Amino acid sequence: MSTSPANSVFGKVHLGYVVIETQKFGDWKRFGRDAIGMHLDELSPDTARFRLDDNACRVLLRRGPAEDVVALGWHLDGAATFDEISRRVADGGVPAAEGGEEEAKLRGVERFLRFPGPNGLAQEIYTSARTAPLALDIPGSGFVTGAGGMGHVAMTTTKPHLVRGYYDHVFDARLSDYIDETISGMKFKIRFLRVNERHHSVAIASVNALPINPIRTRVQHVNVQAATLDDMVSSYRRVKDLGFTMALSIGQHTNDKELSYYAQTPSGFEWEVGWNPIVVDENTWKPSTHRGISSWGHTPEGQTVVDKLNQFAAAARSLLRREDTVVALAAPGIADD
Ligand SMILES: [Fe+2]
Repeated sequence: MSTSPANSVFGKVHLGYVVIETQKFGDWKRFGRDAIGMHLDELSPDTARFRLDDNACRVLLRRGPAEDVVALGWHLDGAATFDEISRRVADGGVPAAEGGEEEAKLRGVERFLRFPGPNGLAQEIYTSARTAPLALDIPGSGFVTGAGGMGHVAMTTTKPHLVRGYYDHVFDARLSDYIDETISGMKFKIRFLRVNERHHSVAIASVNALPINPIRTRVQHVNVQAATLDDMVSSYRRVKDLGFTMALSIGQHTNDKELSYYAQTPSGFEWEVGWNPIVVDENTWKPSTHRGISSWGHTPEGQTVVDKLNQFAAAARSLLRREDTVVALAAPGIADD
């Protein structure tokens, strides 16, 4: 831990929303509402939101060219936590900006502060979220949010120790465990970080000993947690029936035991719908290393040779891309155990 327990923010940080920039509004509405089963609110030709619970915004779609997640919103418990994190960012000399009134309204929050994060992913912090006046209009029974936040995000990086350093320094993230896995002949190491009772809110993957990032987007996937097994399986069927690309079939993860599948979003990154992950008990938890991401299932569906070639082309291009890890808030980084 980079701070003393007295000012630790662990447990007071919850993934609150993600902001997605896309031109593919029609596809995203079908994907998010009709396939995944989230509640859709259309706000304007250039903005739409998905809800998972009473909160007015869990996913904000805004029109733009990125086809990616561009910001993570973190719901903080109370002004003291907000002030503590703001102070850490300011002490690092990293510029933070107050969100505009219209931007706050779109995110369903009172006010928020934005500052840079690793991989070009803006971090937004707030303490007060607006609830929506209407009940959810969704096909399933709901999603699990609460103390564990709306789910998790996974990213790939060429500088995993700095990314881990960043989330440790800014949010007091704790290592839950590691997974070592080979995908398409490349050896990945994944670090799972928690900021509350959810096993991980951020997963950081890197390719061992190679300075390449095989994923074009800032996030590799976003995860949401379905309330029941039936909800998860029903959404899996809708994804397939509606013709969206399934990335990985239903399977179970080795570390948090979550049952899930991965669908490809209209923007290209993946969307994981999971069910029943374990909840971490801080009194007994000890980090470990698992071999392979899945104990069963999670087999690639519909991946073609062209997809694999594109993956390697993206990896080659990533060599040319400068990866900003916001070193002022990450140094000196945290090496793997
Ligand atoms: Fe995941």
